Parts: sequence; structure tokens; C-alpha cells
Amino acid sequence: MKCVDDYRLRFGKRELVPIIVGGMGVDISSAELALEVARLGGIGHISDAMVPTVSDRRFKTKFTRDKFQQFKYNFENPDKSAVQFNLGQLAEATQLHVGRTMEAKRGDGMIFINCMEKLTMNAAKDTLRVRLAAGLDAGVDGITLSAGLHLNSFALMEDHARFRDAKLGIIVSSLRALQLFIRKNARLNRAPDFIVVEGPLAGGHLGFGLADWQQYDLATITAEIISWLRIEQLDIPVIAAGGIFTGSDASAYLASGVAAVQVATRFTVTSECGLPAKVRQEYFKAGEDDVEVNGISPTGYPMRMLKSSPAIGDGIRPNCEAYGYLLDGNGNCAYITAYNRELTIQPDPKRIKVLDKTCLCTQMHDFNCWTCGHYVYRLKDTSRLLTDGSYQTLSAEHVFRDYQFSVDGKVALPPII
Ligand SMILES: Cc1cc2nc3c(=O)[nH]c(=O)nc-3n(C[C@H](O)[C@H](O)[C@H](O)COP(=O)(O)O)c2cc1C
Repeated sequence: MKCVDDYRLRFGKRELVPIIVGGMGVDISSAELALEVARLGGIGHISDAMVPTVSDRRFKTKFTRDKFQQFKYNFENPDKSAVQFNLGQLAEATQLHVGRTMEAKRGDGMIFINCMEKLTMNAAKDTLRVRLAAGLDAGVDGITLSAGLHLNSFALMEDHARFRDAKLGIIVSSLRALQLFIRKNARLNRAPDFIVVEGPLAGGHLGFGLADWQQYDLATITAEIISWLRIEQLDIPVIAAGGIFTGSDASAYLASGVAAVQVATRFTVTSECGLPAKVRQEYFKAGEDDVEVNGISPTGYPMRMLKSSPAIGDGIRPNCEAYGYLLDGNGNCAYITAYNRELTIQPDPKRIKVLDKTCLCTQMHDFNCWTCGHYVYRLKDTSRLLTDGSYQTLSAEHVFRDYQFSVDGKVALPPII
């Protein structure tokens, strides 16, 4: 029986272990995690979501404080159109986060940055152009375009010196989304270097409808995309993502013709990931009924999370003067609308509940939105229950090696401590 290590992901002359740890926003897929995955020969992701706040945490910069100081006069105003990012600082924050990570890289693997289109930052095109260019300037090995169709993202990079040498790929959840992307970019004569196909069991935002995500499955979408690429004679590695929980799941996908797998949920309980230790225990303890797919993200995409996430129902005041990553360019965000509606209905403004939307910037920043893949409830089977009732935290190396070498649907438990 074959295991993942019997396969390699080929990028030109480079060969990698075909395991990619996906981007997990607002520093859950931390530099430490990405570095470990690269050291082990796979591909790790960092994320550029809320990168000024990540830089503030990592490097003691003051980007978020400066932005708040500049716009605090607007705090009471429901119209956030004046709240704009300083593009110079955005570039600096990205370069710090990416550059320092790349400097620390060891081993044969690669480090990519996950870049979400839905982070419209009140000036979608300008901020995205800066984020992409700064990542390339800072030497990132590749960029994974996610959470959006990204129809113009290649064009935003086309004049960059690294446009043709960096590995650039896209996450799609349907053949149609991929076709749109490829057609739109035909004039650039630059196909993506990889395509991540993300199915409905993934963590984070889902590229399916809230009402119909259950009708789709990763294997079918992946097979459709592989066969279309063959017909079009496009030789692009396809990477499957979402619900690949064991090494055997992964090797079955590799046997079916994908070039690599992208995984995330199993790494949320590793010591290198950015989640606080207490939150990691929530992931370990989750049962199947503790997970839901809901519509509280202001992006409009469904999101899977633990039902116990403090973000659900929390009616905090919008924090766009400091953050504002989801502002649409006209100073709007679906959470501001929901919050202001509740403000007119609920008598005590200090205890407002907002059930239909959440202030995703603040909640992700504070690790209060516990997004996870469908199989989060199996994490408890990947570790040891300790005498104090908590689960033993895993190392990224342990989880990576388990994906790489395990067979027969088995999951290796960590060494007893
Ligand atoms: C905690 C968490 C946060 C995530 N955040 C992002 C994100 O910011 N951007 C993104 O493109 N995908 C995000 N994802 C999706 C993963 O990168 C990955 O493709 C997917 O979760 C793989 O499925 P698995 O978790 O079942 O292994 C996230 C997943 C998790 C578990």
C-alpha cells in the first residue's frame, strides 16, 4: 500500500513532499508553522490577512494604533468611507511579515502567502496591488489567491519583476470559477502554477452556498477539473483540499491524479500554530454536533466554525477605525449595518446581541471565531487525553510525518510525555 511519501509535487526541477498546509487567517498559520512545514520539505503558508496587526504583534510596530489615532474622530460615525489604509505602511507590514519569515527559512520546502480577495480594505484594487507586490518584493516563494474569483489579480502583478518566476496559484471550488479565471488571464500568457480545489468540508470561508454546500463533494469537483485541464492540454498541478484527515485519505487523492493535498484542521492543535493554547483545547474537545456552517461572516461567504465561538452573537461596536479590513470601498460592511439595526432595537447599547453577522476583523484578531474543518471532531483521536482532562498538544512535525507516512487509515499518536 502506498503512502504520501511515495509521491512528489513537481514544480519544474523542484520536488516537494506533496503536503501543503493551507493559509489560516490572522496568523493561525503562523510563520513558525510555515517554517516547520518548509523545513520538512512541504509547502507552508503564512497569511496576509490583517497583516499590520500581525506585524504589530510580531515586531512591535504600531500600525494599528497609528491608524486608530488618525481616524478616531470618525468612531461614532456609521459611514466609514473616510477610513483608509496607508499604503506605505501596508507595504511595510507585509514586507516585514514575509521578509523575516523568508530569511528564517530552512530546508527544501517552500513558503507561500495566502491572499484573500474578500479583504477589500476600503480600496480593493489599490490595497490588493500593494499586498501582492510587497509579498513578491519580500521574496515569498509563491502566492495562493483565495476567497474570491481574483479575475484581476494577475494583471495587478503583471509588471512585477517576479511575475513569471514566483509560484502563483488560485483556490477554486468549481470548474466554472477556474474557467473564468483562466479565460480572464489568457491575454497575459501566464497560466497559474497550481490550482487548489477546495471542497465543502474545509475550514475558513466556503466557496459554496449556505443552503447547498452539502450537495457538493471534493472528489467529484477535483475529477471534473482534472479532466477539463486534460482536454484543454493545460499541464497544471491540481491540489485537493478540505476534509483530508489521514495520510490514507491523502494518498487516495494522490493516486487519483492530484499533485498534492492541502490540509489545515489537523495543524490547528499543534504548538506552532497561532491559536492560543486554550482555544486549541476547544478544537480537541469538539464533538460532531458542536460544528456549524453559518452566514455570520460579513463577506457573504458561509463559514464553518464551532458553535461555541465567542464571535457568534457578540454585538461589539464595529472597530473599523483600527481595522476595517472588510470595508467595501464605500465605507460599508454587513456587520456595521446589522449592528446599527440592533442599536435602534435593543435598549442597552452595552449589551447588544447581533446574531446574523459578526465583526470578523475584531473576532479573528482576538481568536474568538473558531473556524475549523468538518472533521474537527476527530482531532481528539489524534492525541492523548492527559490526567488533567486536557489533550496533549502535538508538534507540527508529528502531524506532518503522520500525513507523510501513515497507511491503512491510521493516525499515529504522539510520544507519551
Ligand atoms: C482555522 C482555519 C482558518 C482558515 N483560514 C483560511 C484563510 O484565511 N484563507 C484561506 O484561503 N483558507 C483558510 N482556511 C482553509 C484552509 O487553508 C484549507 O484549505 C482547508 O481548511 C483544508 O481542509 P481541512 O481543514 O479539512 O484540512 C482555514 C482553515 C482553518 C481550519
